[in-house]
Formats: sequence, C-alpha cells, structure tokens
Amino acid sequence: MKLVHTIADLRAALAPHQSPVFVPTMGNLHDGHLALVRTGKPLGDVTVSSIFVNRLQFAPHEDFDTYPRTLQADCDRLERAGCDIVFAPSEKELYPEPQVYKVQPPSDLADILEGHFRPGFFIGVCTVVMKLFQCVFSDAKGPRHAMFGKKDYQQQMVIRRMVQQFAMPIQVVAGETQRAPDGLALSSRNGYLSESERAEAIHLSLALRALARDALAAGTSLPDRREAMEANAMRSLALRGWGPDYLTVRRRADLQPPRTEDMLTPQSLVVLGAARLGSTRLIDNFEI
Ligand code: PAF
Repeated sequence: MKLVHTIADLRAALAPHQSPVFVPTMGNLHDGHLALVRTGKPLGDVTVSSIFVNRLQFAPHEDFDTYPRTLQADCDRLERAGCDIVFAPSEKELYPEPQVYKVQPPSDLADILEGHFRPGFFIGVCTVVMKLFQCVFSDAKGPRHAMFGKKDYQQQMVIRRMVQQFAMPIQVVAGETQRAPDGLALSSRNGYLSESERAEAIHLSLALRALARDALAAGTSLPDRREAMEANAMRSLALRGWGPDYLTVRRRADLQPPRTEDMLTPQSLVVLGAARLGSTRLIDNFEI
C-alpha cells in the first residue's frame, strides 16, 4: 500500500489504473470504514482512501481540534483491508489558500435534520468531497465508484444528488451501517464515550427502533400522529439524560415527512436520530 500526501503524488500513483474506488474518511477508522473498503474493492482496479479532517465542516464550537488523528494505526488497518493507496494531505495541500469557492447544496435536503443542527456542515462536506473527487477521479478512464456509509444517511444522499446535478461520472455506493454486538452504530466519536456512557449509548438506536414500530402501527394515520410520536421518543431519551436534537420518521427518497400515500409502502421510510450523551453527539438511523 502506498501512502501519499500530495495531489501530484496521488495522481502519479493512480496513473497506471483505470477504475478507482474511493473511500473518503477523516481517519480514526473503525470497522465501518474498513467494510466500505472491502465492499468497494471488487468494483474497480485500485482502491483509494483519503484521510483528512476537514475544517470546513466543523462549527467553531465543535471537535475539529480534538478529533483523533491516528494516521499510523489507520494505515495499518487500511492495508489489512486491501486498500492500495492512502491519500493523507495536509491542510496546506488541500486548502493552499482560503477555499472561497464552495458547493452550496439545496436547502430542502441540506438545511434539515443534520444541516439544521449543524449549519454549514453540508457545504463543508460537499466542498471537500468535490475537491477530493477531482484529486482521485480526474484522470480515470473507466468506471469510478465512491463509497459512503449509510450511518451518515443524509450525507450520502446529499453527495448522491451533488454527483447527479453536476453530471459527475461517479457511482455513489452506500455501505450498510456496521454495529457493535449490542447494536451501537460504529462511529469515530464512540471513542469519546466514558464506560457508563458507552453502556447507555445503545438507547439511541433502541428509541429509533421503537419509533419505527410505532410508525408502522400508526399506518395511514402516521402523518397526523408523527410529531407526537417523535416528541414522545425524544422525551424518553431526555428522561434517560440525553439531549436529543431530533428523532424523526422521514421518506427515504427526499427525507421529507411522510404523507398518507407513503404509508402504503412503509419500506419507503427511514427513522433518523441525533442526540447528545454527555458531550458526545451520536447519530443513527434505520430503514424501515
Ligand atoms: O463522513 C466523513 O467522514 C466526512 O464527512 C467525509 C465524507 C470524509 C468528508 O470530510
């Protein structure tokens, strides 16, 4: 496996290949990232992962400075998973000057849920992903695949729409969420949890599963009862000491609230949630 730090070295390493498979990450890798590498590998002739903690997607009060930087351990894990090239640029390499051109995703998709609670987050994500796509895919001649985890459900949708709207010749592939034995979705931020918080953390996914069951039981009355059910789910978490941002039932297609006719195909729905446990913000979702 090659480790490169500059765009020029990345392009040189990619030159002999036709069909890159790209797994963008911010490092501090867990089995969810490695599953994306393994799933993506057969789709192309070279597998590239980037490790870059992207300042543009962090608000000033968020954990940019303390986000774990674990390059050596990440490279060891990527190599074992079959990754061929790791691109780990410095901030100076990727943003040699202030990044004044930015990608503004549509507000109906990007200013709700995560975007509502983390204003500007998806502008930062789309901007860096657009730039990373240019670095990885610009010289490719064959099919290009980019892997994103369903744990970041909305992110994966925002990127998919960006790729489609800019007619980028890239297949976005969504990998299933990987979970710990108790069901907690794997996340780089799980490492922030204390022992007691880690034991409690599963209750976000339990609350989402309960909300999904209630939504199914409500059937065509869901649109009228949805907000009360969501408030109830948030209250149950708050009573356990969480600070819930949202727990909600949405349509998979556009993340808007379901209408009566959507209840005829409940498999078209998804439950999504975000909540703070101590100082750690966790997110999770389940497709119904
Ligand atoms: O999901 C992430 O780790 C990041 O948002 C991404 C896609 C690597 C962009 O910085």
